[in-house]
Amino acid sequence: MTMRRLRNSLIVSLLVPAALASAGISDAAEVNLYSSRHYDTDEQLYSRFTEETGITVNRIEGDADELIERIRLEGEQSPADVFITVDAGRLWRAEEAGLFAPVESKILNERIPARLRNPEGLWFGFTTRARVIVYDRERVDPALIGTYEDLARPELEGLVCIRSSTNIYNLSLLASLIEYHGMDGASEWATGVVNNFARQPEGNDTNQIEAVAAGQCGVAVANSYYAARILNSDDPARQEIASKIGIIFPNQDDRGAHVNISGAGLVHSAPNRDEAIAFLEYLASDAAQAWLANGNNEYPAVESVKVDNPALDAMGEFKADPVNVSVLGKNQPMAQIIFDEAGWR
Ligand SMILES: [Fe+2]
Repeated sequence: MTMRRLRNSLIVSLLVPAALASAGISDAAEVNLYSSRHYDTDEQLYSRFTEETGITVNRIEGDADELIERIRLEGEQSPADVFITVDAGRLWRAEEAGLFAPVESKILNERIPARLRNPEGLWFGFTTRARVIVYDRERVDPALIGTYEDLARPELEGLVCIRSSTNIYNLSLLASLIEYHGMDGASEWATGVVNNFARQPEGNDTNQIEAVAAGQCGVAVANSYYAARILNSDDPARQEIASKIGIIFPNQDDRGAHVNISGAGLVHSAPNRDEAIAFLEYLASDAAQAWLANGNNEYPAVESVKVDNPALDAMGEFKADPVNVSVLGKNQPMAQIIFDEAGWR
């Protein structure tokens, strides 16, 4: 971290308790949420929680890695009660930074499937997303791309678009490949994909899908909600993109598609511990699950909850990789090494 960033973080961390205090918060029930999810629908969800429980939700939003650093620097004095973010890889980073305290909740343990939460109760997944393959329906035969492994096959030379290796979604995808194929197998895969690049990695997941529709790439990789967002759009330009692409949930004949989560955990120094646990349990309720998932075109973690979402319906049901998502965190450091060695920038 540069000195300037460190100094900014310190200034911010000194300001936070003051900011919360000046917001008129005293003895009233409250929960301080540090969030890197920033969807309008989440905001409405928090209002509902306040209406139902009388607990005020104070939100501090920011980039996930910066929020982790901030809570770490705030130490025992941190006002943070709950940290919410996307990707098991980031939850793992927070866990490694010692941010979380374990939660033993019957509600959370019963409602959130074991594969979508930390085995020690340090964090819980509340929505899921799959990493899908998007392809140009005119140029590419979908039979060539049934699996992530296929992205490395020689027939796809010059066709594959995917974002940078520093991106957490790709680190987690590679972490899952390490789990199934070991370091050597995963390394071979990464090299094969790099050999198939249509261009050097650039842009975000949405840009990869746009590049397929624009004919720059034949095949791309993106999180399911980005594809769903395009399918659900009323914007004619987006509808045009939707008409050109096909979407595949990979590995349906073997382990299932790589799935990641949006999740949250109790901060170890939480000043409002009971309220924080009540908030986490609320996120697992039927109403919150549907709202949270639908707001970002994701899937609810609680299996009995169904969402009414035309794009997700159109994309169809799929088989998800049953591996515990905590594995994605555990394999992150190895994933970064393999990407670097493969020259995947
Ligand atoms: Fe995203």
